[in-house]
Amino acid sequence: MNKSSARTVAVVGATGAVGAEILSILEERNFPVDRVLPLASSRSAGDTVTFRGADVTVRALDGKAFRGVDLALFSAGAGVSKEYAPVAAGAGAVVIDNSSAWRMDPQVPLIVPEVNLRAMEAHRGIIANPNCSTIQLVVALNPLHVRAGITRIVVSTYQSVSGTGKDAMDELATQCRQLLNFEDVTPAVYPHQIAFNCLPHIDDFASSGATGEETKIVNETRRILGAASLGVSATAVRVPVFVGHAESVNIETDKKLSAADARAILSTAPGVRLYDDPSRALYPLPLRVAGTDAVFVGRIREDDSIDKGLNLWVVADNLRKGAALNAVQIAEALVR
Ligand code: A2P
Repeated sequence: MNKSSARTVAVVGATGAVGAEILSILEERNFPVDRVLPLASSRSAGDTVTFRGADVTVRALDGKAFRGVDLALFSAGAGVSKEYAPVAAGAGAVVIDNSSAWRMDPQVPLIVPEVNLRAMEAHRGIIANPNCSTIQLVVALNPLHVRAGITRIVVSTYQSVSGTGKDAMDELATQCRQLLNFEDVTPAVYPHQIAFNCLPHIDDFASSGATGEETKIVNETRRILGAASLGVSATAVRVPVFVGHAESVNIETDKKLSAADARAILSTAPGVRLYDDPSRALYPLPLRVAGTDAVFVGRIREDDSIDKGLNLWVVADNLRKGAALNAVQIAEALVR
């Protein structure tokens, strides 16, 4: 695809939390688009979304929707992607898919532009965007891995409800309002009350006891870093935050890295912003990071319990770098 061929861009899931962010990032970064085609379920057909100040009518997704489409950005869940990404690619579009449907398919590159952009060259019509928690993790860790060889990662996530979608954001807002008015709450999106709570349960549990989210973080991190046998241990937790995922990360390295070494490496790393001055209470916070593009890293310190270990606190906007922005960066690389 070249610049002139990126004219018609379909956004599948345009009415959702990530879809809305894709539209605004395409606009913000002046991506070369002549026509955007917002697609969603039949429930939203006829509604409008705004692009460059104009109302654009949402169409229902169907097998014919991709005629004349050059680029299709999917964010409507794995089931939709499984069914329609091949249809879009078959119609001649390049698909950038935000769902988990294709991420571990060896024919489909799984791309974080700051880390493994070159792997994109092998695409056959579908390119996968990684899981939100994985993206911010590998942006922060790849520079350390390149320098010192990470041998093990232990990560605990604190993930915002926007990662689940717009219904979950509504659920958190509704529950907060109800609880502050001494009303009962009825969980619907999550299995338990999310307001004023933390749920160690993201995606389904497997027989191993791990959740789907935890398995995605393990497998996708290995794949993107090109380290199939890297030890990765993940615990994924949903917290009552609207936007912004945080991660407590512990790494062991092959070569010793001091905290100062890590700070020096990360201070010039692509896509990373160091925000690390605990003496002034400066460390990344989801509230501050929401709406921004970088992966913020702070609380960098040596882990005295092991020989060559570091702790870090990594925070990013899950809707932007964790999803929409990463997808648009891939699209930008395609048209470059
Ligand atoms: P709709 O708004 O019509 O339901 P979120 O992740 O924020 O929940 O958003 C999910 C997005 O995926 C929405 O745009 C939603 O459209 C869209 N979507 C969900 N199911 C389908 C489907 N079967 N076909 C097309 N789009 C879908």
